[in-house]
Amino acid sequence: MSETTDRTFPLLPMLGHTKGKRSAVTCALKCDNACANDVCNTSSNAYFRDIASATLSRRSALGLGAAGAVAVVLGSAVTSAEPASAAGLSAAAKDGYGKSKLKFNAIASIDASVDAVTVPKGFTWQPVIRWGDPIFKNSPRFDANNQTAAAQEGQFGYNNDYTDILEIPGSKGRRAVLFANHEYTNENIMFPATMPAGDVRAVGAAAHGLSVVELERKNSNKPWSYVQGARLNRRYLNNTKYELTGPVAGSPLVRTVQDPAGRTILGTLGNCSGGTTPWGTILSGEENFNGYFVAPGTSAGDARYGLSAKPTARQWELDDPRWDTRNAGYENEANRFGWIVEVDPFDPTSTPKKHSSLGRFKHESANVIVAKSGHVVAYSGDDERFDYLYKFVSAQKYREGDRKHNMTLLSAGNLYVAKFTGNSPAAEITGTGAVPADGSFDGVGEWLPLVVDGKSAVPGMSVEEVLVYTRLAADKVGPTKMDRCEDVEPSLRTGKVYVACTNNSDRGTGTKEAATEVNPRNQNRDGHIVEITETGDQTSTKFQWNLLMVCGDPAQGDVTYFSGFPVDKVSPISCPDNLAFDSVGNLWISTDGAPSGIGRADGLFKVTLDGKERGRVEQFLAVPREAETCGPIVHDDEGSVFVAVQHPGENGSFAAQTSYFPDYVREGAKPKQGQARIPRPAVIQVFRG
Ligand code: FEO
Ligand code: CA
Ligand code: CA
Ligand code: CA
Repeated sequence: MSETTDRTFPLLPMLGHTKGKRSAVTCALKCDNACANDVCNTSSNAYFRDIASATLSRRSALGLGAAGAVAVVLGSAVTSAEPASAAGLSAAAKDGYGKSKLKFNAIASIDASVDAVTVPKGFTWQPVIRWGDPIFKNSPRFDANNQTAAAQEGQFGYNNDYTDILEIPGSKGRRAVLFANHEYTNENIMFPATMPAGDVRAVGAAAHGLSVVELERKNSNKPWSYVQGARLNRRYLNNTKYELTGPVAGSPLVRTVQDPAGRTILGTLGNCSGGTTPWGTILSGEENFNGYFVAPGTSAGDARYGLSAKPTARQWELDDPRWDTRNAGYENEANRFGWIVEVDPFDPTSTPKKHSSLGRFKHESANVIVAKSGHVVAYSGDDERFDYLYKFVSAQKYREGDRKHNMTLLSAGNLYVAKFTGNSPAAEITGTGAVPADGSFDGVGEWLPLVVDGKSAVPGMSVEEVLVYTRLAADKVGPTKMDRCEDVEPSLRTGKVYVACTNNSDRGTGTKEAATEVNPRNQNRDGHIVEITETGDQTSTKFQWNLLMVCGDPAQGDVTYFSGFPVDKVSPISCPDNLAFDSVGNLWISTDGAPSGIGRADGLFKVTLDGKERGRVEQFLAVPREAETCGPIVHDDEGSVFVAVQHPGENGSFAAQTSYFPDYVREGAKPKQGQARIPRPAVIQVFRG
């Protein structure tokens, strides 16, 4: 635990190895160089090609503004503020489906070097909350040159990813809570080079976790601002207690010397995207947790989850033995991460949960829909090349208005993994993205059981083993290897499920699996989006699927597909990541990785899903230099869109920054109090003005 004044963090290793995708720094710090390392899934599980045959729009029951709010439950008695149109697409179409209340002219795509937020004509933007903004009454203002762990523990964390805003009941639209994840940190640009290494580790650790802050506004035409010291404000830190629920709670596989009962976990890590439940809680996905641990790296479990014996980028293992699972008593610590977390943003004293029933993998997120039967269904993707797509079906049923009961629904249920079968001949899937002769990438699929009625459905594995080593369990049942599933989000209007497959530069290289109809491009640089239609009820084990789009820039010669919409009339789009719906059912897509894909800044895009304009992509905004666009929230009925701007200026250093978002303090100018001349990840609101 030696401290030096000279920081020796190996935070910028091996620049230039990223295979033409996102920045090398992002790779190193966000996902522990997942793409440079070997593919974790070396299972012989191959795709079985069947050649011959075939919030509420995020606005929850507690959500903002009744106008345009979408039903919580498809086709059931629970309809929230939605009239009869909730039952399905055809009824919704009559109701103006696709006619967004947010009118805008698409922006031209923006060069990746531009350090600005670009919004459509007639709109403006401002930050709602920035990294370092004080949350509690006595929290200090941000001071970039004098950062301490104690200050950061009371300030908004770094690299906001999933974000949602929920109205506080009874506030007449004037108060809300904002939730944000803080996925990871970039110590190179956060801290002066002279800062002692121990302080860097401590402040960096305190910038992880989650935040809840109250927002206020004068009326629905005014932008939101956050309220320092408000009652519901909370930071979730590495010492916050999480209750482990479901079959793994108490299992020997998660016991440690600190928690011999195996039921209480400290902290959450790698929180990427998330989802908001119909009962007004937030789900957060623990994604690249492996990068925080040193491990023996010798077991099948370690290998399959990317855990190795090399020192971590942030070196927390120097401060706390639990970050090195080679230490006696901490062998299982890494098994306590990789879960879906559930947080109640309306109760700052509540104990957040980690739900073992949804399995352990690199969860991007989880998104819930209530089936006609009343069971709740949660979809979740494993964001790793050649990994899988999952679905959870609750054992118990949703009860309208019974929040306490509903908050137990994710603790018990069945877990499935997806297998896709295409209906076009293999020879027509050329690997270029060219559409097969039947005019679409499509077929059927099934949800293969991993856990049913609390019991393992995987031969040779106990239910606890299936849920802790879900990747290994899934390997045994033959699911489809996907191109990095990011957000998986059901439309609460139609029940169709959208899967953002962000990219997979390894597909079809070496001995790795080549293009299939559902992942139809080799060296898939730009990604694609799968549309799933469950057969009958949302709990079904059978589905049909097709690709909504195969992304890229047609003007640069990319072979693309936008459900038949003319490719010369869409905004170019690459690396789809987070998904959201507006109040009338349009899909909004934020991107991560476009700069190195199509040479353009990442952005937020609206896509029409139905009618003549199906497949029409329109770019709404672009984020500043080296940033990715996260956590979109579309309040189209109020003319507002929110995004979390993550890792602006990722490639800079503290002394030589490459972005000055969002304060944009001019060179030589003295920052106003609370401002800084360094990039600060922030949640921004875009509104008319
Ligand atoms: Fe953190 Fe899957 O991106
Ligand atoms: Ca086909
Ligand atoms: Ca993501
Ligand atoms: Ca989402």
